[in-house]
Formats: sequence, C-alpha cells, structure tokens
Amino acid sequence: MRTGGPYFMQTGAVTLANQPSADLPAWGETRIVGKALPRVDGYERVSGTAIYARDLALPGMLHGAIVRCPHANARVKKVDVGKAEKMPGVRAVITGDTAAAKIPWYLTDKGPASWLFAPHCRYEGEEVAAVAADTPEQAQDAARAVSVEYEILPFVVDHEKALEPGAPAVQEGGNRFGEPSVYQRGDVAAGFAAADLVIENTYRTPTLLHTPMEVHGSIVQWDGDRLTVWDTTQGVFNRRIELAQMFKLPMSSIRVVSLYMGGGFGSKLEVGKYTAVAAVLARMTGRPVKIFLSREETFLCVGNRPANRIWLKAGVKKDGTLTALEARFSGPTGAYATWDVTSAYQIADLYLCPNARTEEQSVFVNAGKARPMRAPGFPSCSWALEQTMDELAAKLGMDPVELRLKNIPTVSQIEKNIPYTTTGLRQCLAEGAKAFGWNEARRRPKGDGYVRRGSGMAAGMWGWAGEPSAIVIVKLLADGSVNLNMGASDIGTGTKTVMAMVVSEELGVPPEKIAIEYADTATTQYAPDSGGSQTVLVCAPAVRAAAAAVKAELLSLAAAELSQPVATLRLRDGTVEQAKDGKRTPIPDLKSLAERQVLIGIGRRAPHPVGKTALPFAAQFAEVEVDTRTGAVKVLRMVAAHDSGRAMSPLTYENQVFGGITMGLGLALTEQRVMDRQTGKVVNVNWHDYKIPTALDVPASLACLPIDLHDTECNSVGAKGLGEPATIPAAAAIANAVCDAIGARVFDGPITPARVFETLARKGA
Ligand code: MOS
Repeated sequence: MRTGGPYFMQTGAVTLANQPSADLPAWGETRIVGKALPRVDGYERVSGTAIYARDLALPGMLHGAIVRCPHANARVKKVDVGKAEKMPGVRAVITGDTAAAKIPWYLTDKGPASWLFAPHCRYEGEEVAAVAADTPEQAQDAARAVSVEYEILPFVVDHEKALEPGAPAVQEGGNRFGEPSVYQRGDVAAGFAAADLVIENTYRTPTLLHTPMEVHGSIVQWDGDRLTVWDTTQGVFNRRIELAQMFKLPMSSIRVVSLYMGGGFGSKLEVGKYTAVAAVLARMTGRPVKIFLSREETFLCVGNRPANRIWLKAGVKKDGTLTALEARFSGPTGAYATWDVTSAYQIADLYLCPNARTEEQSVFVNAGKARPMRAPGFPSCSWALEQTMDELAAKLGMDPVELRLKNIPTVSQIEKNIPYTTTGLRQCLAEGAKAFGWNEARRRPKGDGYVRRGSGMAAGMWGWAGEPSAIVIVKLLADGSVNLNMGASDIGTGTKTVMAMVVSEELGVPPEKIAIEYADTATTQYAPDSGGSQTVLVCAPAVRAAAAAVKAELLSLAAAELSQPVATLRLRDGTVEQAKDGKRTPIPDLKSLAERQVLIGIGRRAPHPVGKTALPFAAQFAEVEVDTRTGAVKVLRMVAAHDSGRAMSPLTYENQVFGGITMGLGLALTEQRVMDRQTGKVVNVNWHDYKIPTALDVPASLACLPIDLHDTECNSVGAKGLGEPATIPAAAAIANAVCDAIGARVFDGPITPARVFETLARKGA
C-alpha cells in the first residue's frame, strides 16, 4: 500500500534543496489569526468582477474544439478532415497524423500507454482530432464535420465484470493494473482466532464526478520558443514540469498562470489534453488559442472518483478490543492508469489493531481515467470501515462512540509506530458526541409510523502530511502597504485570505493593505499543488517566515532611527509602537524605509518533524429521517468535529467543513456516474441527471466544531489539513444513521429509494 495518496507519485519530479529558514517559535496569543475575518477577495467573487481564465481574451485569439470518440472502445481507421478544413473561419485541423501532435500520453515504465490523439480509443470521449477557428461556434461546427471511421470493439465498463474470465481486454496486458498492493502486519488468522466476534461484509461505493463549477480549459500563447498558459489548475509549478517534458523546453521558458478558480477537487491536478492541443494549434497558427470544455466533456474526460468494492472482515473481543482487520479492495482506474485508485490507509491506521492485512487492485475499464478526488480512496474506505465498526458495536451491545474510543491509536501503526505530533481523535469523538447530543439522540424513539428517525456517526483520518517546501516572498513598500508573493493556487478555498491573515499577524498591517500575487510561475516562487489538504500547512509557515524576515529588518531600522532597543518595539496597526510610552510611528514615516523603498523577506517552510507524523482526524454525527413509503432519506442535521490543528480562519474553516459534508451527502445518497451496459456510454453527463446535492438537500442544521489544538510540532503555524478530512467520514455517518432508523444496513451506495426498499424487503419489513 502506498502511504501518502497520489501526490508523491504525481509530483515525483520535484526535488527541492530543503534549506529552510530557521523555524519560528509557535505563536502565543494571536490578534488576527483565528478571527472570523471576511475573505479578502469576497467582493470580487460575489460581484462577478473576479477574472477567471475563461474571461480572458487575447488579441487575435483563436478558439479550439476537440473531436472525441463516441464509442467505448474503437480503433481509429481513418480521419477525414477535408470538409472541416474548408469551413468558414477554420485556421487549422490536427489529427494523430500531424507531426507536432505526436505527443506521448499516460507515461508508464513500459512507455506511453497512448498519445495526445489516440489511434485506439478506449473510452467514450477520448481525443481523436482538433480544430482551431475564429469563433468557438465555427470551431465546434468544424469539429463535428471531421469524419472518423472506427473499428468498433467489445468493451467492459464495470470493474467487477472486467475481472471475470473472458471479459474484453481494455489494455493488451489484461484488465489488472499491476499486481495487487498488499499491506500486512501481525497475523490476521491468529487475530481472528483470538476474537470473540468476527463479521465480514462486502460494500460498494459508486463512481462520482468532480464537476467543479468552473469547467476545465486553457489559453495558450507562444512568443518564439516561450510558452505562456493561462490554466484552470490547482498547481502552476507542476503543470510547468509536465509542459516542459511534453514540449522539450527548459522550465524557464514556460509561464503557467492560474487566476480565480471555481473549484477543482483533484480534477485539476494534472495537465489536460486540452492544454497540449491548444499549444499545438497555437504554434501552427501563430495565434493564441483558447479551449474550454463543455460541461458534458468534463463528465467524460477529466477524471472521477472511482467506484470501490470492499470486502472487509473484522474481529473483536467482547470488551471491544479489535483483534484483526482484513480487507480486499478493487476499483476502476479507467482505460489508463498512473496510480492505485483505492486506499486502505484508514484500515491500517485509524484504529489500534495488532493484526491487519489489506489487498488493493486497480482495474482497467473502458471509461475515462480516474483522478484524485477530495481525499482519494478515503471516503469509500470509511464507507466500509465505519459501517463495520457500527455493526460490531451493535452486535457487542456497545455504543458506537465507546467502541471507537476503546481503539484509539497512540502511534501511527502504518508508519512503523512513530508517534503523531498531535491526535485529537479522542476529543473529536467525545466533544462531537456532546455537541450533537449523541446519547439523547440514540435514545429517541425511531417512530412507529412510516417515517423513521435514526442517528449515526463515523470517524476518519487523512494520510498526507504535505510536501516539504514552499518559497514565499513578502515585500513591505514605502507607504506601508505589502505585497505577498506566493505560488499557490487559490482553488476557491480561501488560501489568499488565510495567507493575508498570517502576514497581518506578523507585520501588524491590516489585510486590506496586503495585495497578493499568486499562482504564476513567472512572478511567484515554488508552491506545491493546492491538493492533498496541504496548502495551509505547507505555505502558511513559509508566508510567516517571509513576513518575519521583513519584520526583523523593519524593527532593526526603526530601532536605530528611533534610538530604542529592538526588544521594546512592536508592530501594530501599521505603526511601530514603543513599549515604554505607547508612542506610535506610522511605518511610512520611517526615513530609513523611504530611503530603501522596499524591504524584502524570503521564507521557506522548515522540514517535517523527524520521527513523527502530523495528520488530521475527524468525527461526524448525523441524524436522518427515512420515509419507508417513498424510500427517501432526509438528513436532518450534522455535527462535524475536526482536529486539523489550529483553526487559522474560522469562516473558511467552516466553508471547508460544510462543503465536505455536502460532497459526502452526494456520495451517500444521490451521486453516481451511470454507464450504459449496451453502449458503454455515460448516460448522465449533465447536472440535471447527475444529482449533486442542492441547497434543499443540505441539512439546515450543520455545526462545525474545531478541536482547536495548536500543533506546535508540525509547523510554525500549528495547522494540519482540513479540506479532505471534511468529506471523509460524512457518507459513512449518514449510512450508519439510516441503519439506525430502519434497522437494516444498506451496503451498496448511493442509498437511493430503490436500495432502501430492497433493504427493507430483505429484512422482511
Ligand atoms: Mo485534491 S484530491 O487534494 O484536490
């Protein structure tokens, strides 16, 4: 089993000399950090004045459109572009025969698994050709006029069927992506023999789609051999690496810029074929080219959270002590693979258990490639693990919270028993239960009419402690205003706001005087992808270090100019304040600053603590109503208790938690990609047929309870990750509440009305 999610693998090309600034002491009491400040870009976001990549138009810009295979599995026999080339406004048509478009794609150790334009299309939507024209409409018309002859082949879209003998082969080597990944410790057979109670079940979760509000796309411009890309991406620096390899250019010749973003959730963690297509078309035509996907294209071609089948067996003593956990996972990687798509991490690490064995198999199917999606693998694993814990508790006659409290780990078992810097799992469980009114809720009658009520809970953890480095520059200008120069994308989570608060904390300059340049490889320094719940914990310490460097220089200049010892000065509200009499000198009045015009601080994050791991924990609680006449499940309320270290910015913290719960609600109840067994096509490629929760589905009562432990060991701001933990236990908590309400368990998600009826029928109700 991999122990770090896909980020290690996707960013393996990055090696940074880790020369951190000496780490700063932990904050004591903070004045700005921890306050519920509005977003620094809130007005722009809600007023429509924020500029997204799609809003840009360059002089002479062309528009691209992509020809996609309509079949689940087909060889491209002939592409006829004659008609398309003659259509109005068309400037270029490219196919797999175009020399500049022969770009290898999906790199494996055996060579590329495919090409920018695939000679063999293995899923509906795979790229075959592309067009550039004066307007988007002309490009789309011309793309439709490209005529492609296909040899249609048998296909398989269900990953369990793909493993059956005689299933159509998606890849020449068969439908298994490598050998199963195995993790093992202790002796599970002995563990089950020592148990008083052993249960085993098979669980399933559906394939979900990221569907960020902002669709994917790029604008590409060449200036000689210099390439500029405005991209909807979670990380400009890793896109630069991918583009440098693709076009064999030095990294220094490539500029990637990310502007405002409308979400990513992991689907924007790798370079898109649309970016490469736009780059090829732009080079051929000598004009900038813009390609943005349609909503339908985003359902087919830019990733998904793959379905999971999880067989899980658990053994426990009468007193609730776990003796063994054993699991087998499988999930579809799509037609191509770059990483294992399931994650057994929590089975190996969330609860104390001496004997554990997990086996994971990613499976090829004729569908778009999976991409990481908000805590890749973890919510599906929770669905199985936390429902198993619930059933164990029921069979033991124990309270589900008690059972979990009984098995809290003191060390990271998956990381050879090294300690955690902090673990607030106990507080998440205990304080979450109290805030929810767990004991009262569990005693409340289920109801004897058609509508049944129940409560459930689930715990969770996330397994990625962040990349080692980020480099940030803070500049204090002569008028006392500040530029924060950081490389991270703000994918909508509030990164800019949190980082402005950190600068404000150190320099005493109000957030409105801090302007932020971000996510631009030409003007900002390295930051990892905004993914893996790592942005705050990797970048905020670097921001703090850069601001602290400016502060040190400013105070030393002020001390000389004001003839005061440095230790007696502090920065407050844009002034230098003297301890002895509270006298304040506005920063712009300092002559030494006016002479220099700018003070510059460079900050790096200190390395990870050695011999410890810093991970976030969570427990969520849900109360539901199930209408046994309609099968409808209504989530009435939820409480989410999170140990993500210091809650830096309470409003964006709450946003993350409520957003994570909302996505968990979709996983539990309504969302699933539906593929037609007869055609291998995705049936629900739009927001009408693919059901993401709306405001009416989200419970009116949502409570976010930060377990505000300041983790002084993990980094200099004391924060751990939050974005992904927020969605990990949510669906399982809802499933457990449904089980409590109807007295029977729904093993396969989503819990649709049909599944509620099947489950009730099985129970004989
Ligand atoms: Mo993500 S899957 O960390 O965007």
